[in-house]
Amino acid sequence: MLKLKIGLLIFVPLIIVLTQCSQSLLKMRRIENFNRGWKFNLGDLQDAQVSGFDDSDWRILNLPHDWSIEGEFSPDNPATPGGGALPGGIGWYRKTFQIPESEKGKLAFIEFDGIYMNSTVWINGHELGNRPNGYISFRYGLTPYLKYGEESNVIAVKVDNSMQPNSRWYSGSGIYRNVRLVTTDPVCIDQWGTYITTPDVDEKSAAVSMQTKVRNDSDQDRAITLKTVIYRTGRKKAATVISDTVIAKKSVLYITQETTIKNPSLWSIETPNLYRAVSQIEYSGTVCDDYETAFGIRTFSFNSEKGFFLNGKSTKILGVCDHHDLGCLGAAVNTRAIERQLEILKGMGCNGIRTSHNPPAPELLDLCDRMGFLVMDEMFDMWKKGKNPYDFSLYWDEWHEKDMRDFILRDRNHPSVIIWSIGNEVMEQWDKTDSSGSVIARELVAIVKNLDPTRPVTAACNDVSPLNPVIRSGALDLIGYNYAQDQYVNFLKIYPCKRFIAAETVSALATRGSYDMPSDSIRRWPPRWDLPLLDGNPDHTCSSYDNCSAPWGSTHEETWKIIKKYDFLSGGFIWTGFDYLGEPTPYGWPSRSSYFGIVDLAGFPKDAYYFYQSEWTDQPVLHIFPHWNWHEGDEIDVWAYTNCEEVELFLNGKSQGVQKKSEDNLHLVWPLSYVPGTLKAVGKTASKDILIKEIKTTGKPAKISLIPDRKTIRADGQDLSFVTVQILDAEGVLCPLADNLVQFEVTGAGVLKAVDNGLQTNHESFRAKQRKAFHGLCLAVVQSTEKPGKILVKASSDGLEGSELTIRAK
Ligand code: GAL
Repeated sequence: MLKLKIGLLIFVPLIIVLTQCSQSLLKMRRIENFNRGWKFNLGDLQDAQVSGFDDSDWRILNLPHDWSIEGEFSPDNPATPGGGALPGGIGWYRKTFQIPESEKGKLAFIEFDGIYMNSTVWINGHELGNRPNGYISFRYGLTPYLKYGEESNVIAVKVDNSMQPNSRWYSGSGIYRNVRLVTTDPVCIDQWGTYITTPDVDEKSAAVSMQTKVRNDSDQDRAITLKTVIYRTGRKKAATVISDTVIAKKSVLYITQETTIKNPSLWSIETPNLYRAVSQIEYSGTVCDDYETAFGIRTFSFNSEKGFFLNGKSTKILGVCDHHDLGCLGAAVNTRAIERQLEILKGMGCNGIRTSHNPPAPELLDLCDRMGFLVMDEMFDMWKKGKNPYDFSLYWDEWHEKDMRDFILRDRNHPSVIIWSIGNEVMEQWDKTDSSGSVIARELVAIVKNLDPTRPVTAACNDVSPLNPVIRSGALDLIGYNYAQDQYVNFLKIYPCKRFIAAETVSALATRGSYDMPSDSIRRWPPRWDLPLLDGNPDHTCSSYDNCSAPWGSTHEETWKIIKKYDFLSGGFIWTGFDYLGEPTPYGWPSRSSYFGIVDLAGFPKDAYYFYQSEWTDQPVLHIFPHWNWHEGDEIDVWAYTNCEEVELFLNGKSQGVQKKSEDNLHLVWPLSYVPGTLKAVGKTASKDILIKEIKTTGKPAKISLIPDRKTIRADGQDLSFVTVQILDAEGVLCPLADNLVQFEVTGAGVLKAVDNGLQTNHESFRAKQRKAFHGLCLAVVQSTEKPGKILVKASSDGLEGSELTIRAK
């Protein structure tokens, strides 16, 4: 009895609270993940936009989806090997859904983060619009065409990626980014409707300025209250601002709110502290909309003499360019796959990403905010003058202004974004007599500055002369150099008082685990980019000794030595962090993916990774290579990347000498005559720290080992475990030349999503249940289903002891 009374006492107030909440919740914004249950047809069809069209035999799938990655490699695919040699074409998607009666009177929108490309969207047979740019985010209003209650609605999307080549590099095809259905009250915050800046920041306080765009689509003027509450990480309130105003019917209104945050937790690379602004609109006593914006508080500046400063601290931008594909997963966005890429890059000391050459998935920027990366956010790879026959230049006149605006509006709250790039190596650079390069540069910069004056604007120029009309326009805040590393030192002479960014650097070429001697002789490959390559390796490999680069670029070491030396060089973005599909310089077909990555397509680091780790991090690094499985008598150079002061190398117990690291020599070399056995490197620092690394000659492949990057994943049908598959000898040492074919079987609460081995010439399907190892490694990507439970991964190969692994989906 007593228990019941207490229960009632607690229960009654709770009911009141819940009823109040649900009343206000009823009016609030509903964001529905709209990725599930689409139907897909590859190929064009007549009338597939009509509601009653029979799609019963179409494939059922969940988005994000990239149909190209499911196809077969062929040099005849119109994308060409430059675009990844995978098929394009036309595809149709349809989704049937219902909207409850209770949503009548609300506004409904469908939001697409990106469709590649040239998409047309219909709701119930009514055309909503066409959007050519495959990398841009957009939405359509659905309200007037919706049916409510029992009746069904049909969204149909036609995606046309048939006219190729149209992208540098692999684009993917389809609705490859996330889709949401958003319903709001007619009085609501508009799409990308907040803009939060921190104009005045020091350790003690930060001024925060918030602009909120409110729309009133109703037929009545409304007296509204905009309440914005700012939370620190977690739920701790940092500030509240309340504004009362009236918004006229059928209008939009910009409301500015100012506040101060005491003792702000600054956003930085090391501690990427974030704040959350929750904006609520209220009228007639009820909250009608709520909207969240993540932002960060930080200061940064570029100085012509001293380079880049973050929160007053001199910081070199140690960045990489990355293209948007996720290797064997294609272009289909997966948050964990992006996070893994960033984790790997963080591990080598990288602190910057350039989104070459297009607007990225929003998830990339969210992750850069959370993980502490500095982003150069890039909009265009071409302007009005095209680079490929069917690229965005065809749509330039009609769309460039809207796309540019939408890009800035979407991305301008991310603290990670510190540079806007209006273009990469645009063809207008080269027109010395024609001023279109200057005119367009000024126009684009004006659009950016109008929407966000807080960040510098650059363009990535491979003509770095002052005659380049894009530079000559005077519109750029940062002069963006692509390559031209030999001219860095003269920068301030040519551009006095101007500020520098190496928008794109290096372009070294490497195949993981391949080594060409002599190791210190640098091959610029191909000698001219427009000539066929006559002296390549027959197996289409490039050497990993950092002795191979594109002729317009350099080795890793060459460019880093220069950037490291001069303060005014604020830093740069290496081409590239990861290998990507397409641009298989220097070879072309049968290669179908790039050699530029510091990390291969499967996510396995090449040796250069440890070069940067030794230079860019404080963690103790001693990496020796190559492997030690050669022919007796071979002349082999053994290299070390290290941040030890000196390293002594032993071969089968006998010292091969001590090598000291210096600023002129960022790698150590021992030329040896090969005998099998054990190489042992012993590294010492001033503080007498000792690091030891060994490499052994291995026996024959004997067994498989499976190493998951995570043993527990979320049971949400999205999360991934990346399983590294190693081929080991009987002693358990990785066989560096093993290429055994590994078969996979995944059962239980997960599926085998994709396989890879990082080899640029491999034409096996990424969706196969098997993969050959390449240089001892391959990768199995395991995805959860929506059911919690155990996922059993089995790997087997003829003549090898197999291996099993259990991953838990929770
Ligand atoms: C640059 C270009 C990149 C890529 C790179 C390869 O000139 O901006 O897209 O092609 O060269 O080195």
